[in-house]
Amino acid sequence: MTRRLFIAGNWKMNLTLAASLELAEGLKHAAADVADVDIAVCPPSIYVQPVAAALKGTNIGVGAQNIYFEKEGAFTGEISAVMVKDTGCQYVILGHSERRNILGESSEQVNLKIHAALAIGLTPIVCVGELLKEREAGLTEQVVCRQFDGSFSGISADNMKKCVIAYEPVWAIGTGVVATPEQAEEAHAAIRKMIEKNYSKEVADVVRIQYGGSVNDKNAKEILAKPNVDGALVGGASLKIASFMGIIKPA
Ligand code: PGA
Repeated sequence: MTRRLFIAGNWKMNLTLAASLELAEGLKHAAADVADVDIAVCPPSIYVQPVAAALKGTNIGVGAQNIYFEKEGAFTGEISAVMVKDTGCQYVILGHSERRNILGESSEQVNLKIHAALAIGLTPIVCVGELLKEREAGLTEQVVCRQFDGSFSGISADNMKKCVIAYEPVWAIGTGVVATPEQAEEAHAAIRKMIEKNYSKEVADVVRIQYGGSVNDKNAKEILAKPNVDGALVGGASLKIASFMGIIKPA
């Protein structure tokens, strides 16, 4: 089974409008000849539309970093899947650990958002991952399994195949402490087993699982070489053309 590698940049709450457009323009040219890797960038929601317009017709997709699960209505400050799709996005990151841990987002909410994203044809990039204390207590698989079950409740096999999972150990995010290729592979293999158990081998073989957490142009190649690692969700290193391309090119 060959799964196409998928490298996505999570810009988080960074950059100005001008800097976002400059980065998008730069990536457009730098990545123009990349044919065998899927690429996406996820700007802050207020910059999603101009970045999507700048990257229209290129090989770089665009995603939002979050949505609300309702279609429309009195939800001040929120944006819907419909709106995100309307701006030209193909993807949306859901359940990022910063949303789970800083903003108190639950797997039940993530689940509603996955349903909303799929209903409108957005590809959800669903993040799961354990805290340092959970890993130290030997609970990694248990935590990831709980997040997986909660997040994907009621998702059909056909829809599951459309989802991307990002395994992001919280202790590796923005810390410079990257998981070893072996740690990443172990967690990814466990997630693929979970998919097989809940769905089938056919579904498990299709779903792409990205690794995220301090990925950069120095450590990416070794992690991406692991059989169950199908790409990366990149934070800090996606904010500069050279470091993001340094992850994409060798991939
Ligand atoms: P990082 O962030 O690459 O800066 O560690 C990854 C993420 O949070 O998606």
